[in-house]
Amino acid sequence: MKDRILVVGPSNTDMIIKLERLPTPGETLIGSEFATAGGGKGANQAVQCARLGAPVILLARIGEDPFGDRSVEQFKEEGIDTSFIIRDSEHHSGIALIFVDKKGENMIAVAPGSNSFLSKEDVERAREAFRISSTLLLQLEIPLEPVEASVSLAKEEGTTVILNPAPARPLPQSVLSNVDILVPNETEAKILCGFPPDEDIPSPKLGSLLLEKGVKQVIITLGAKGSIYLSEKEQFEVSAFKVEAVDTTAAGDSFCGALAVALAEGKEIKEAIRFASACAAICATRLGAQPSLPYREEVEDFLSQRI
Ligand code: RIB
Repeated sequence: MKDRILVVGPSNTDMIIKLERLPTPGETLIGSEFATAGGGKGANQAVQCARLGAPVILLARIGEDPFGDRSVEQFKEEGIDTSFIIRDSEHHSGIALIFVDKKGENMIAVAPGSNSFLSKEDVERAREAFRISSTLLLQLEIPLEPVEASVSLAKEEGTTVILNPAPARPLPQSVLSNVDILVPNETEAKILCGFPPDEDIPSPKLGSLLLEKGVKQVIITLGAKGSIYLSEKEQFEVSAFKVEAVDTTAAGDSFCGALAVALAEGKEIKEAIRFASACAAICATRLGAQPSLPYREEVEDFLSQRI
């Protein structure tokens, strides 16, 4: 049966420091809280899918070290299928250093380690995972080769491709034209369209340019301003839920994981985006990536209070 969500992407251990404000170059700042938590865009998206009750497979390359051991244990506890995870004895597991300010804004530096060695061959060896999955969820925190290989295997196996192009980098037409749903934020959308990140371009224009590149549907996330959806057939906006942000880390991952689950369950696109926005909003009210990702009941309660 083709009923799984396959996430191909990185797993990190996040080291988080909460500060009054973000440091400037050369400055030493004393923070308030410190936390270590599971992170990495791929792992976060897989955990989000699992917490919403979806059957999830994570394909990742993880170091054979205590950080990696802890991550794999955590995935098993979450009910994620870890049988396609590759343990790497030559490279350390991914590590992210994260600063979070009092407004919930963050600054992230990643040492990807084993994530950078996920290869085309690793992906090709996992064909079975593509065969049994309805949806492939991808990000860009791994090399381009496994991304390309994943997209083409997904096409061969009739699996829907959702790409969250984070962190952004220009992508070849061969990848973009095989993406069913692209979920960039505004900056990522500009980079994919070849504009400098600080140039002022209206989001609908960016969305249309991405459709011209062959992507079938685009959802540009706009943070507190919500999101905009574009396809050949329609265009609409969905507002964000107002919350007091503590830490926006992984809010985008929460959105993408929830979107994949909602669509795999057969929800209409507008309802799926609303569901994903609720997950992201809840996530932003808590510190850390994986500890912040909401469970199904919490999301349903949240939505029921906001009709
Ligand atoms: O999207 C948030 C994630 O980005 C963090 O968990 C960190 O590990 C980096 O990959």
